[in-house]
Amino acid sequence: MAELYYFGRYALDPIERRLYADGIPVSIGSTDVRLLLALVENEGSLVSKGDLVAHVWGRVAITDNALYVHINALRQIIGDDCIVTKQGQGYRFVQPIQRSRASGQPDEKRQVGNLLVGWPAGVAGPSRLIGRREQLRSATKLLARRRLVTLTGPGGVGKTTFAIHASKRIESDFPDGVWFVELAGVRDSNLVPETVAAVLGLEIGDNAKPLDTLARHLARRSLLIILDNCEHVIDGAAAVCETILRAAPRTKILATSREMLGCTGEQVFELPPLVVPSDTTASPETIRGMSAIQLFIERAANAAANFQVSDSEAPLVARICRHVDGLPLAIEIAAGWGGVLGLATLDAKLDGSIKNCLRAGTTTPARHSTLHATLKWSHDLLSSTEQTVLRRLAVFAGGFDLEAAELVAADDYIPGTQIFEHLASLARKSMVAVVPGAQAQRYRLLETTRAFMTEMLASSPDATATRKRHAGYVLQVLEKAMTEWETSSDVQWLAHYGSIIDDLRSALDWSIDWNRNEVVALAGASWPLWWEMSLRAEGRQRLGAAAALLDAKTPPKHEARLRLGLGELWANSTPGEAAEIELKRAIALYRAMDDPVGLGVALTPFAFRLLAVNRFEEADRAITEAVSLLEPAGKPRMLAHAYSYQLCVESCLGRHMAARDVGTKALHLYDAIGEKRSALTVAANLLEVNADSGDLDGAIVAATNLAARIRDTSHSYLRGYVLGVLSAAYTARDDLHQALIAAREAAPLLRDEGTLFWIFDHLALRCALVGRVTDAALLGGYADCIYRKNGYSRWPMGARAMERLRALLCEGLADSEIARLRGIGAALSEDQAMTLALRV
Ligand SMILES: Nc1ncnc2c1ncn2[C@@H]1O[C@H](COP(=O)(O)OP(=O)(O)OP(=O)(O)O)[C@@H](O)[C@H]1O
Ligand SMILES: [Mg+2]
Repeated sequence: MAELYYFGRYALDPIERRLYADGIPVSIGSTDVRLLLALVENEGSLVSKGDLVAHVWGRVAITDNALYVHINALRQIIGDDCIVTKQGQGYRFVQPIQRSRASGQPDEKRQVGNLLVGWPAGVAGPSRLIGRREQLRSATKLLARRRLVTLTGPGGVGKTTFAIHASKRIESDFPDGVWFVELAGVRDSNLVPETVAAVLGLEIGDNAKPLDTLARHLARRSLLIILDNCEHVIDGAAAVCETILRAAPRTKILATSREMLGCTGEQVFELPPLVVPSDTTASPETIRGMSAIQLFIERAANAAANFQVSDSEAPLVARICRHVDGLPLAIEIAAGWGGVLGLATLDAKLDGSIKNCLRAGTTTPARHSTLHATLKWSHDLLSSTEQTVLRRLAVFAGGFDLEAAELVAADDYIPGTQIFEHLASLARKSMVAVVPGAQAQRYRLLETTRAFMTEMLASSPDATATRKRHAGYVLQVLEKAMTEWETSSDVQWLAHYGSIIDDLRSALDWSIDWNRNEVVALAGASWPLWWEMSLRAEGRQRLGAAAALLDAKTPPKHEARLRLGLGELWANSTPGEAAEIELKRAIALYRAMDDPVGLGVALTPFAFRLLAVNRFEEADRAITEAVSLLEPAGKPRMLAHAYSYQLCVESCLGRHMAARDVGTKALHLYDAIGEKRSALTVAANLLEVNADSGDLDGAIVAATNLAARIRDTSHSYLRGYVLGVLSAAYTARDDLHQALIAAREAAPLLRDEGTLFWIFDHLALRCALVGRVTDAALLGGYADCIYRKNGYSRWPMGARAMERLRALLCEGLADSEIARLRGIGAALSEDQAMTLALRV
């Protein structure tokens, strides 16, 4: 049992290195938590800078500035009154600390289920919500009665912050958790369903409609989805909401948007600004009690350690908050300048400047203009270097860390080593938000600030060079991701690299007009990301657009990787010619470049494609070559991938022993890198080998277990496959009732994945075995027609089922009748065939 440190509303766990606020884990960087521990463990005493650095960073050389940045970040999280600076010497933790024995985590109940998936960018963990008590009560009451509540209000009024705090209040009503979907980076309304699915960890089959998959997944679940920043993708957000309202009775949605979504069932909740004193002659206590004033004082004190407001100055603060209409973001920006300018100057400058701006632009709604005016005012007060840095940082579509900021914002004139000072200063002025992350501190611009600074960037001569550096940064991240993909599990990998997706989108959008080679390089390096994020349709479209730019000057290694990516992204969709063409080109390029690893990687999906179209010998040759090239290459994921396809080839060739052998090798490799999903796929393929080699009982037991294991994962297509094999095995064993039960569960899942066709062989046989020979002939005709149309060949179990079917039909029907029925069957639609096949 760990002994925790308690101070204020916080609990610090020294063993797990976690910080809790009111029992809820706070998202805090590991460096920051170590720093906090060092201070807390020396409660009340001065800890010198040297000791702190040694304790936290060991022998790594760290500048005072870096230490300051982390102290500042800590203050943003736990409040400014905990850590006192002793100028030039060190820091002291001054809050009273209590120690007590805790049982396990501070508040276990609150951690059950999914808390928000990561903290939304721009909101520094569960920071204090100022004011809003009444509104929180009404909003949560509303959510108890309604299933879709949209928080509306102008930019910066506090919708996102409020949504998170409101969701925390009611999270225990949702056993399946609260999920935060950030839509700010999504530019295309059609991509909203996929984005929601990706956050929920759902895989969307190649033929599936994302809305259907979402509906099915959510149908029996009880969760709360926060859809943040819907205003620029209203149609997509409304479509998702309508689907969820219709199909998932126990799921609720809390949306934030500058305008309402306008869909049926929506309840709008307009969030007003914070309360500002209408009368500055009110008593100082009354003024201090108002939420806008409290926010100002807290943020000003964060920015300037010695900031205080005397009673005589309270009316001044009230005036300042009124200038900015009580808008939280504008208050934060103004407060950042409080310590620098002094309250009187701040009041005078802000008043004049905002009035000027408001006079200049009268077409936009008043509050929006206030914020815009505040942003402009604050921007104009920044040093020109800070302005430049901020403008450059606006290219980031998502959050960024210090290293990324250095790569993008530094140039010959602004050295990289100075960037963190500028960042810290911009954060103090609330122009950049600090997002404590699990590993490293991250930063981001709030949407309004980003929109404002993006305009500035667009009209500056800096734009092209900045965008180029940004694209270069994204490419660098993708290259690293590609290397790490080899040795990490999908889950780890996505947690690390998934957040680059919005930056990738924006870098591709920009480069497409400016730099062909960049687009080809970026798109080629990005395919694992689209693939892993289940955004294959978008990936195909993005890589396809890049392929249209290929020309004689494209470096062959970039072309090869792009084509390989296209081949992989097309691999599972029908018809498969697109994959074959791209993979053939990739293979030819890798051969010409004499790149054995690239060649091995490209031959792998190619072999699979050959297998699907009945070219067994060629598939065998290709996969054997791929394995021999990859075995010495030290690429565990790619080698495992090749073994898993070799398993399919061996199984199709009837070589069961060899199939089991390579399957086991693939399993070992996947286990070694912790890659569960692929390991499950191999286990599913091995089932088919077992069933085909005659061990029906063993295959049925294994398939039942495997289906249960997959039940609660997001791998619905895999579950469809396993249940399909189970149904086939039951049919082969004449257990026809069980076969139908399994098939009914498998069918919708396989249909989504676009691989329903193979199950009809078994369902046709099942019909014949229960005596429905006419239906069996129809379904047999349908199945044959689909195989022919797609150029597919049957795998052993299917071929065997068809043989039995043929014999049964011949016993029961005249040849001419069989031919007639098969003709009718060939014209059935997939839905008709499915309905017929799944009848009792
Ligand atoms: N009640 C509050 N207490 C403390 N801070 C607040 C409060 N409301 C807003 N803020 C702060 O104001 C800033 C803007 O808030 P937020 O990002 O939630 O606004 P928004 O309405 O979601 O803006 P946008 O429309 O741009 O998405 C944030 O830095 C947030 O921390
Ligand atoms: Mg917001």
